[in-house]
Amino acid sequence: MNAIQETDFDRTLHRKSPVELSVRDLHVAYNTLRGPFHAIDGISFDVSPGSVLGLVGESGCGKSTVVKALMRLLPEDAEVTGDVLLDGQNLLTLSPSSLREVRWNKVALVTQSAMNSLDPVLRIGDQIVESIRAHEKVSRDVAWKRAETLFDLVGLPAERLWEYPHQFSGGMRQRAVIAMALSLNAGLLLADEPTTALDPIMQDQIMARLRKVQEMLKRSMILVTHDIGLVAENCNTVAVMYAGKVVETGPVAEVLVTPEHPYTIGLYNAFPRILGENEDRPSLISIAGGMPNLLTPPKGCRFENRCPFATEICGQKEPPLVETSPGRRAACHNATRAAEFRKLGALPETWAADADVNL
Ligand SMILES: Nc1ncnc2c1ncn2[C@@H]1O[C@H](COP(=O)(O)OP(=O)(O)O)[C@@H](O)[C@H]1O
Ligand code: SF4
Ligand SMILES: [Mg+2]
Repeated sequence: MNAIQETDFDRTLHRKSPVELSVRDLHVAYNTLRGPFHAIDGISFDVSPGSVLGLVGESGCGKSTVVKALMRLLPEDAEVTGDVLLDGQNLLTLSPSSLREVRWNKVALVTQSAMNSLDPVLRIGDQIVESIRAHEKVSRDVAWKRAETLFDLVGLPAERLWEYPHQFSGGMRQRAVIAMALSLNAGLLLADEPTTALDPIMQDQIMARLRKVQEMLKRSMILVTHDIGLVAENCNTVAVMYAGKVVETGPVAEVLVTPEHPYTIGLYNAFPRILGENEDRPSLISIAGGMPNLLTPPKGCRFENRCPFATEICGQKEPPLVETSPGRRAACHNATRAAEFRKLGALPETWAADADVNL
């Protein structure tokens, strides 16, 4: 890895002040033949300036829908309400003509499929230069110089800017896409499963590089992942999503040590790699059952059909996301019993499909 010198890079890349994001009561319903599908149902979270929020939850819970809402990339017939405030400016009410400015200039996206973000017939350097020059009035030379700096930042040799995507390995392509996402001065970086397609060693290397660059360039970031281990290693705060809702949120160091929502407890026990954990954690558990159908969301807690700790009220009333201690919130009627749930939740039998937990 090349050593990154702060003095080396183009000042344009270095934000003077990191941005703050507040998402408030975001709803997204996809229009389907069978009626509105409520993929996101009133979620709120914050990303404080220069920090990394982990948005975590199993496949289908709505993570990419949130990302697309923030990027204004949802299908036109999707119904979107709520506020997405980037340094106080509501991205959801911007005019269509301002959208170009939002994408890449204010919010930049790195997705899992690097190949889809790269044009196979253009040299990678030309793609980065074109993307810069589409948004900024700078000469080709200046843009190319910036592309070289970015390649250095993401750990790629500058001469490879002359190559085509097919000459790159999967990991190198992912680095190139990260370089492209950083090429404008977007204050918010959205990384949607950025390393999921790569092998674990490559995942770690790329995440480490992404984090280093994010910190150095003072970008705020949302790391979207189904892997709570990645959240443990890379995020400051976490929002745990389940079936279109945020069910728990707070500082990573607290939420992953003392989870309060039964789903977070289950998710934690379903993943092998958590930083600094004890060796004698029991074998991995899996949470039996599936998410409810959001064409007709249940009236009570959405986790009720899979929750080993459900009580009568759970099927009747939806639990609101409420503060449980300063900086932490959970949406569970029984959150005060979290310590007891954590003990039981560490036992695989608690999560068996036919479990009968005596509470
Ligand atoms: N364009 C669409 N039309 C209808 N349903 C969609 C559309 N895109 C996603 N969905 C549904 O919305 C839910 C959330 O999807 P997504 O945001 O991709 O979840 P995640 O990224 O957490 O896996 C899923 O049930 C998915 O099938
Ligand atoms: S509200 Fe009830 S069903 Fe939902 S997570 Fe809490 S205990 Fe389980
Ligand atoms: Mg997704």
